[in-house]
Amino acid sequence: MSEPFPFPDLADRRVLIPGGTGGVGEGAVRAYLAAGAQVVVPSRSQEGVSRFRKLLGEAATERLHLFEHDYTSFAGAEALVTTMVDRLGGVDDVVAPIGGWWQGGRLWEIDEADWQGAFVGLATAHMAMLRAALPRMTRLGAYSIVVGESAHFPIPASGLVSMEQAALLMMHQVLAAELQDAKRAFLLELGPVATRFIEAPDPAHVTPAQIGAVAVAASASTQPGQHVLLRSRAQAEDALISLRAVR
Ligand SMILES: NC(=O)c1ccc[n+]([C@@H]2O[C@H](COP(=O)([O-])OP(=O)(O)OC[C@H]3O[C@@H](n4cnc5c(N)ncnc54)[C@H](OP(=O)(O)O)[C@@H]3O)[C@@H](O)[C@H]2O)c1
Repeated sequence: MSEPFPFPDLADRRVLIPGGTGGVGEGAVRAYLAAGAQVVVPSRSQEGVSRFRKLLGEAATERLHLFEHDYTSFAGAEALVTTMVDRLGGVDDVVAPIGGWWQGGRLWEIDEADWQGAFVGLATAHMAMLRAALPRMTRLGAYSIVVGESAHFPIPASGLVSMEQAALLMMHQVLAAELQDAKRAFLLELGPVATRFIEAPDPAHVTPAQIGAVAVAASASTQPGQHVLLRSRAQAEDALISLRAVR
């Protein structure tokens, strides 16, 4: 992740990034830290916390609030946001790249653990986070839901991914209809991402750094919430230019 992006100044922002320890989330965490924000990153395990802190190295400044916390239930998300409001005085922005890939079989082959883990658990985590954080967010900020383009088409043996991502896509549409102009909700739709877990990334694939830069640009802009396509590196460059055009 070495692309140089000039970042707007978000020093007054308090940003929550559930899923921030993941391959995509890393880009958002680095970008908001580079923009000067206070960045809250919960992880479900202490091991996840230690691994991610080590990965960030010097980028893990005192503005990074990284700790173990399970936010994937309604109660867990509520407790997280309450703690953030108590300690930092509020929440301005949320980026939610929660959950990753799953390849567990065709629909008639999955068991209940697959269903709970790859569909119910992830949908619940997103819902829990949204209902806990959105009402307490300031009007200034942006709530960015991260999904994959597989929300639009089936991938055999990974059907639960498409089903869950499609649910998130509709979550954003419902949110947009319910919020109208009251607050800003973005949907960042990704193609394959060149994360740290990919050994030989395709140069056409969108990078975590680009996704982070786009999320930061959405936060910094005054543009209304929208569905942003980041299916490739080139598309992400266009999205960044478009979001930065209006502040
Ligand atoms: N990577 C890609 O190529 C790609 C492409 C298109 C779309 N996306 C989307 O981007 C989002 C993030 O993907 P990613 O590649 O960054 O995934 P990842 O590397 O596996 O990271 C997933 C993150 O979500 C958190 N998480 C919370 N609940 C989880 C659960 N039940 N199962 C798994 N992780 C959970 C994990 O945090 P802790 O373990 O620290 O708690 C971790 O930070 C997903 O919505 C994914 O569909 C990714």
